[in-house]
Amino acid sequence: MRLPRSPAHVAILSSFFFPLLASANNLDCRHVRTEKVDWAFESLGGPKSVLHAVNNTASWVNTTYTIDLCAPLKRINDVPDDQKCPGGTRLCSIERVISKEDDESDVIANAFPIAGELQNHGGFPIDAKWYRLKTSELDTDAGKEGVRLEIKGGVKYVEKQKRKQKAFVEFICDPDLEGDENLWIPEDEYVGEEPEKGSPGEPSLQFVSYVTSGKDEDVLNLLWKTRHACEATKREEDEAKKNHWGFFTWFIIIAFLSTATYLIFGSWLNYNRYGARGWDLLPHGDTIRDVPYLLKDWMRRVLNTVSGPGTRGGYAAV
Ligand SMILES: *[C@@H]1O[C@H](CO)[C@@H](O)[C@H](O)[C@H]1NC(C)=O
Ligand SMILES: *[C@@H]1O[C@H](CO)[C@@H](O)[C@H](O)[C@H]1NC(C)=O
Repeated sequence: MRLPRSPAHVAILSSFFFPLLASANNLDCRHVRTEKVDWAFESLGGPKSVLHAVNNTASWVNTTYTIDLCAPLKRINDVPDDQKCPGGTRLCSIERVISKEDDESDVIANAFPIAGELQNHGGFPIDAKWYRLKTSELDTDAGKEGVRLEIKGGVKYVEKQKRKQKAFVEFICDPDLEGDENLWIPEDEYVGEEPEKGSPGEPSLQFVSYVTSGKDEDVLNLLWKTRHACEATKREEDEAKKNHWGFFTWFIIIAFLSTATYLIFGSWLNYNRYGARGWDLLPHGDTIRDVPYLLKDWMRRVLNTVSGPGTRGGYAAV
């Protein structure tokens, strides 16, 4: 039996093996590709937070979720370990209980990682996966444009029970939003955080749900409205970049070719018509030979002008 060796065959084979080879799916904000569509989210990098507040009778329970698509989260100040997420965390949850009776009391009840490279901190690898929404088979995704990110790796202890954590971040195309509008600025300070932007209004990054009813896994759902989720954005930006380069490159090439043609053709003319040799071959040979002297002269004039009339005397003869 002969094995077919068509390109299609190779493509099928590689698409079958690629997920195995790429089992260490790190979260890379710059290169996102599913089903031949490219996205880039580096402009949403840096710590970005969203608040979920629960209004109880005697207290508020405010949970801040902070995510960095491009790098592990890092706190500015020294913070006790039980009030922050471990190194390698990309999505951190910090819960505060704020008593309504006593305004000043603000207790951090729980801090735990939801996703990140946490295999060295009692957790798991992040195992990032991206799903294109346009071709999603879920009914709830019908009509959506964007991409869904699945990340995991975090662990939360609930009454000594270890519960795995996971998050879905749905990036939804909104051509009018950058994605960093009206974000929640938490008390927990992170390196690289930007100051508040825009007027108070609907934040681009939103909390959807935190589902704890699973058997041994909790799932956080976030929604991120941004133009970077639109399928055309990355392509258009790449094309703009290419055109820009294209123009520049062509300009240089044409300038170079014109000069070369002029010199070669001119030399040929001079050779044939006047039997010129050496420097005399070049068109405007005299001028070219004089360039260093002309430059020197020009520099001298510039220096004269700059240094002003006071020290002019020495060069008066020029
Ligand atoms: C908790 O959330 C409520 C409701 O959004 C907000 O008014 C309050 O300022 C928050 N408190 C803290 C300490 O974050
Ligand atoms: C919180 O709940 C209390 C009643 O339990 C209510 O009076 C109050 O208006 C609520 N606050 C907000 C901001 O929803």
